[in-house]
Amino acid sequence: MIDLHAHILPALDDGPPDLEEAVAMARIAVAEGTGSLVASPHVVRGAYENDRAGILQAVEDLNGELGRRGIKLKVHPGAEYMLDPDLPRWLGEGRALTINDSGKYLLVEFPSAGIPPYSAQTLYEIALQGVIPVIAHPERNFDLIRDPDLLARFLERGAVCQVTAGSLTGLFGRRIQQVGWYYLNRGMCHLIGSDAHSPGYRAPVLSGAAGAVSKALGGELSELLTSGNPGRILNGMSVLRPAGAETLTMYPGKGFFSRIFRRREK
Ligand SMILES: [Fe+2]
Repeated sequence: MIDLHAHILPALDDGPPDLEEAVAMARIAVAEGTGSLVASPHVVRGAYENDRAGILQAVEDLNGELGRRGIKLKVHPGAEYMLDPDLPRWLGEGRALTINDSGKYLLVEFPSAGIPPYSAQTLYEIALQGVIPVIAHPERNFDLIRDPDLLARFLERGAVCQVTAGSLTGLFGRRIQQVGWYYLNRGMCHLIGSDAHSPGYRAPVLSGAAGAVSKALGGELSELLTSGNPGRILNGMSVLRPAGAETLTMYPGKGFFSRIFRRREK
């Protein structure tokens, strides 16, 4: 499997505080069937101001250490950007780090409290530069928990959705679990990532969610979300539409943006 969202670089954010914890996370990822992983330290103005050069160096250092210890995990560079009106400018200036430095996909998160009014404009300005925003764990955002369909307006404009593995297995509570499965059931989730922060509570594990998706919705979708699409993104290729999306239709009943998708009546 390929995990596109993991805070594994030591001492850069609220992930592992030192190299030993980072290595412990890498061992867990390998044991749970992950072969490649994108390091995605937070970039948040005033809190975690990680820069491109520092992240690239930290990835190189960690890969060297994993190699010396014989741990078969390939770590790729990336970052998780808090949506910020200046993000498109940073991207244009070559300061932002896209997923695997491919220049094609950028991992972004909304503040957990809600969707700021500048979101659509900022995502649009990112897309104008030929870069596809990957929206991290929308199922954990307060506005989207209240109205999950609000995500559709961003997906319609080309954004890609990453649901967090732990959300699907109930790590963050029942409501977040429901919203995560809602996105899966409606073909609104393109990939699953661990959003790992530690070897313990939030470990780099996709296997539990992969098994649950396989059981509920089929092995093909599980493979697409944990390997197929993450691999395509890693290599700068277009994602495949999740299976089941064809069964969705426009639903004009309750407002233009708030209820766009609904499962077709049987
Ligand atoms: Fe994250």
